[in-house]
Parts: sequence; C-alpha cells; structure tokens
Amino acid sequence: MSRLEDLRQRIESREAVIGVVGLGYVGLPLAVEFAKAGYAVKGFDLDAKKVDALAEGGSYIEDVVPGQVSEVVVEGRLRATTDFAELSRCDVINVCVPTPLTKTKDPDVSHMAKALDDIRKRLRSGQLIILGSTTYPGTTHELFVPMLESSGLRVGVDFGLAFAPERIDPANKNFKVREVPKVVGGETPLCTELATKAFEAVFDRVVSVSSTQSAEMVKLLENTFRAINIGLANEVALMCDRLGLDVWEVMDAAATKPYGFMKFLPGPGLGGHCIPVDPTYLAWKMKSLNFPARFIELATEINTHMPQHVVDKVAEILNEDRIAVNGARILVLGVAYKPDISDTRESPALDVIRLLTERGGEVSYHDPHVPEIEVEGTTYKSADLSDDRLADADVVVIITDHAAVDWARVVARAGRIFDTRNATRNVAAGREKVRKL
Ligand SMILES: NC(=O)c1ccc[n+]([C@@H]2O[C@H](COP(=O)([O-])OP(=O)(O)OC[C@H]3O[C@@H](n4cnc5c(N)ncnc54)[C@H](O)[C@@H]3O)[C@@H](O)[C@H]2O)c1
Repeated sequence: MSRLEDLRQRIESREAVIGVVGLGYVGLPLAVEFAKAGYAVKGFDLDAKKVDALAEGGSYIEDVVPGQVSEVVVEGRLRATTDFAELSRCDVINVCVPTPLTKTKDPDVSHMAKALDDIRKRLRSGQLIILGSTTYPGTTHELFVPMLESSGLRVGVDFGLAFAPERIDPANKNFKVREVPKVVGGETPLCTELATKAFEAVFDRVVSVSSTQSAEMVKLLENTFRAINIGLANEVALMCDRLGLDVWEVMDAAATKPYGFMKFLPGPGLGGHCIPVDPTYLAWKMKSLNFPARFIELATEINTHMPQHVVDKVAEILNEDRIAVNGARILVLGVAYKPDISDTRESPALDVIRLLTERGGEVSYHDPHVPEIEVEGTTYKSADLSDDRLADADVVVIITDHAAVDWARVVARAGRIFDTRNATRNVAAGREKVRKL
C-alpha cells in the first residue's frame, strides 16, 4: 500500500494531523471544526498577532466564539504557529489564504503561490493538499501541480491535491459550518476520495465533482450568480428611482411568488472579499480564451456605479433644502459591507465616504462593529451615535443595517435620512424625513 493510500486509514482513525494555512474568516472556523471532530490541528499564519491570540484561546472572528477556541486549545487539539517547518508533520493541509485583485483588477494568486511554495519545500509522500481559496478554473492544475511536482513527487501517486471551495457566510446564524455541503474535486480519483473522507468528518454532506477545474468553477458560478442578481436588483432600483416607485415594495411583493423568483436586494454597492472579486477571476480567465464574460461585465458596471448613485442622491436631498454637499455635515451609518460583522473589505461605504469627501462633505461615521477605518490615507474613528450628533447632521446616510442600531431613534432625531438598505422599514413616526434607495 502506498503512503497516500495509507492516509485513508489515518483519516478514518482520526490519527491524521490536519494543517490549515491562513487562519482568517475561512481558515479559523475550519480549523476549529477539525479539532472538534477529534483531529490534532496545526494552524499556520504569517500574522503573529492572530497566532498569539489563538494561543491564549481567544478569537478575532465574530462567528467563532472564544469559548470554542479555548476548548480545543486547552485540550491540545488546536495549535497555531508562524513556523512553517511544522507543515512537514501535517498529513492533510488546507490552504485558506486570500485571493484578492491587483491594483489593475487582475487575479492576485501570490498569497496562494507563497503558501504552496512553503508546502512544496517540505512536501513528503503521503500528504494531501486541499486548496480552499477562491480562484479561476485551472489554477490548481496549471499552476500548482507543476510547482508541487518540481519536488520530484507525483500527484495522485505520492501526494494528493484537491480543490474544495469555501462557502462560509459570515454572521449567517441559519447554518452551522457542518450543515453547508462541501464540494470537492481532486486531481485524480484517489485525491477526490481522500479529500472527501477528510471532509466527511466535519461536513454532513460532501459532493464530489470530477476535477479541480470543475470545483473551482462551481464556486465562481455561485458567486457570479449572486453578483449578477444583485446587479439586476440594483438596476431595478435605478429604474424605480426614475419611475418614482419604491423598489423595496416591488421586491417584497415579487418575492411572494412561490416559484420562479428569488429575492435579491439592491444596496449601495457590493462589498466583502467574495462577491465583488470572484466574478472578475472568471472574467479574467475567459478573456485569456478570447471569451468576453458579458453578464459579469454588465453586472460589475452597474454594481460599481452604486456608490456614485448614493452620492448623487445625497446631493439631491441636500439641494432640495438649498444645502451644498461642500461643507455639509454628513453622518454615514455603518461601514461594514454587511450587517453585524466588522469586515470592511471592498465595502461600498469606503467609496461613498471618498466621493462625498471629494465633493467637500464633512463626513463622520458610526459603526458599532468597526472602531476605525482608513479611506484614502485618512483615518476616521467611529463617532458615538448621540441624539445631538444625529440632530446635528445635515444628512444621515444609512449604508449598513446593523441590528444593534435603534432605527426609531435615528429617524426621530435626524433631520434628513437617506436609507440605502431599507433599514428603517419598520419605523412609522418621522418616515417623511426618510428617502430610500
Ligand atoms: N470571507 C468569506 O466570507 C469567504 C467565503 C468563501 C470563500 N472565501 C475565500 O477564502 C479565502 C480566504 O478568505 P478569508 O476571508 O478567510 O481571508 P482572511 O484575510 O480573513 O484570512 C486569510 C489569512 O491568511 C493569512 N495569510 C496570507 N498569506 C499567507 C501565507 N502565505 N501563509 C499563511 N497565512 C497567510 C492572513 O494573514 C490571514 O490571516 C479567499 O480566497 C476568499 O475568497 C472567503
């Protein structure tokens, strides 16, 4: 029996050591799940602060409560380190590092390349590498098979390689990690089988596909589907604005149809590390094959225009009362890209603040989850949401509908409100002061 086939038994008996490279929104919950399932887990990150926090049993990800970390740390089942030499002791290595865009909006797989290179240097037979970072179809096969095989070991014979996209949805309380089916595609049937075995310990359902390329494409389909449908919802919001209709009423009523319609909401623009980024990975790949990804390009154009639309509407609201944006006191409510989390990556709030500031607006913000942000080199600190501050603002612009905000008080105290999320939908008193997207 080869050492790779031997891994099957080590996974089944929970003797396999599980590595997780990149302990962020994706990697930390996965590491905790494997530890809870009884495996010894080693977490690797370049960020010593994260590693130190975990060593003390703390958590820096809202969805992972500190108690969950401390339990597995105290029991010795999860240990985080910045020492990549320990990769050689792992039998299964999950890679969960970022895949952002470069300044020119091309895929930036440099974090993956570095992580894979760290693995290649210590690669030994019998190891299984599972890539979880979202990327374009062909990354695993075209970039990382040659890189790993340059060690002299052969994929599917000496070591395993699979792609298993991550589907985590931060702050979503409806689904536990294990309840969301895991998709897996290996470089060879043995790779798929071993990765499936490993994930069966932590996911209720594992869905296998025939290749790493197919698994990569599954993830891009899922997020492109969202980006395009949000783009449609945003364009319908722009249409309703022209028609003098309430887009939220139209969406809610359409969503009562029990089949053939799926509700997506408009908003101030896309945010987060996934939806604004992932379709661009697919469009970039298709461009290299002379295939223009037209739906993606159109949705991207509409979605990236939304912060400008928000700023135009704010200017319109102020203008009605003969107030210029230049010098106006503008309070942005919420800067995280979605409710009840602290993640501001790609948040439309950053564009809205930048555009308002460029027009001379005196912008402050409040966000119960984000104590400070940096926009174009300027650091803003979250202001308290006092009655005076609300009353003092020329306009309050709601960008994130955090549950912790008392919307009735916001509407009662503020003079003018632009609500891009329909956050004030349940507030009756003072609704004449609220203008909605
Ligand atoms: N955040 C989400 O909701 C989500 C959902 C599904 C998929 N994804 C995908 O998962 C991947 C990771 O996203 P995330 O949100 O967890 O990112 P993150 O920034 O929260 O975490 C990534 C971690 O990797 C570390 N890191 C970077 N390079 C490293 C390296 N070479 N070696 C070791 N550690 C390294 C960083 O310090 C960081 O702690 C991305 O490809 C993303 O598109 C994210």
